[in-house]
Amino acid sequence: MNIMVVGGGGREHAIIKKLRKSKNVDKIYALPGNGGIAADAECIDIGAKDIDAIVDFAKNNNIDFAVVAPDDPLVLGAVDALEAIGIPAFGPKKNAAIIEGSKIFSKNLMKKYGIPTAAYEVFEDMNSALAYLDNAPIPTVIKADGLALGKGVVIAMTRDEAKAAVRSMMEEKMFGESGSKIVIEEFLEGPEVSVLSFTDGKIVVPMVSSMDHKRALDGDKGLNTGGMGTIAPNPVYTKEIADRCMNEIFLPTIKAMNEEGREFRGCLYFGLMITKDGPKVIEYNCRFGDPETQVVLPLLESDLLDIMIKTSKGELSESDVKFSDGAAACVVVASEGYPGSYDKGYEITLPENLSDTEIYVAGAQLKDGKLVNSGGRVLGVSSTAATLEEALKKAYAGAEKVCFKNAFYRRDIGAKAMKILMEGKN
Ligand code: AMP
Ligand code: GLY
Repeated sequence: MNIMVVGGGGREHAIIKKLRKSKNVDKIYALPGNGGIAADAECIDIGAKDIDAIVDFAKNNNIDFAVVAPDDPLVLGAVDALEAIGIPAFGPKKNAAIIEGSKIFSKNLMKKYGIPTAAYEVFEDMNSALAYLDNAPIPTVIKADGLALGKGVVIAMTRDEAKAAVRSMMEEKMFGESGSKIVIEEFLEGPEVSVLSFTDGKIVVPMVSSMDHKRALDGDKGLNTGGMGTIAPNPVYTKEIADRCMNEIFLPTIKAMNEEGREFRGCLYFGLMITKDGPKVIEYNCRFGDPETQVVLPLLESDLLDIMIKTSKGELSESDVKFSDGAAACVVVASEGYPGSYDKGYEITLPENLSDTEIYVAGAQLKDGKLVNSGGRVLGVSSTAATLEEALKKAYAGAEKVCFKNAFYRRDIGAKAMKILMEGKN
């Protein structure tokens, strides 16, 4: 089969590398892909948001199946547009992708169907939001309604910070129209878990759980980033919590979307916080997480293409989704300065022959045949092993051997998880 993967980051590289192991895959195109993905797929210079060009490409190149990975094209209706010309695609339709595309939609959905989440208020007018903050409990959380490249959330530790965040979203339009409406919500505390799941609107099959490390620097210091590393499985996510999540969150969400006439087929990502009152939803994403995918898919033992096709057809129950019992760790190597400004164009040397390790390239391009950094998060080194400790050792050994000027990575990916595992043993 000819497969087209829309997107061009580390997540897409992990999807493509896994798809290459599927028995029915002949050719893979990546739109736009990147300099590292070019080793595993033919990269086509079409942006992930250019829906018309994506559809034209699929029509003219005998594409049998499409995988739409990023949030933007899903929210813009890429899957609807592909299916309209008879090309099956993995990912939710526009009317279901709204679960990520609008925080107001997802918060109202949870309230209506009793799905546990932080208490919240919606504001469409800045002065009402500012007035509300005069008496709101602090800390508080301010969220832009629409997509904001993962940056539309501010945890405000003071009233002034909260008001400044509201002004920058609603007055200064820091995120454009995405911030013209906002959600102000209760600050929750507890460890976080990411659970990606396959769902065809009928059943939900959770993948192995994972933990992201969002801050730029060790000890969860520095600015929020797209994610500096991940581990799987997440030790916080015990069997007991998993059962509660299935009954209190996953199944009720699928049912709620069906009742709203918005059946969700694709990968539904549950961003959860395990509070003292039980698991609560922090966010839904309508897609695979990045860099969660870089630890989840390496542990998948089943045929990814087969699962994706069955998910898109509503036949997920016929699919056999198996994960290994081992662990995985991904260390993201970034350009010094990220998530602020950084220099580009430095040549990257990649280590070879690493065991049980894959390098997923996110922000790099080919220049005169050489790989050079072009993004903040340049690549992820992902390793699998029987235990998390070994997986971390391998991933760090790989990260040390990646060479480019101004490269940096966190030294404490997985440290929190290891601590929980050690405490569990004592
Ligand atoms: P999001 O983009 O919605 O994933 O939010 C980014 C991060 O902000 C999350 O991973 C949490 O660490 C934090 N966060 C979001 N909502 C809340 C909340 N209600 N209480 C505490 N932390 C939150
Ligand atoms: N790693 C968080 C996300 O993909 O949104």
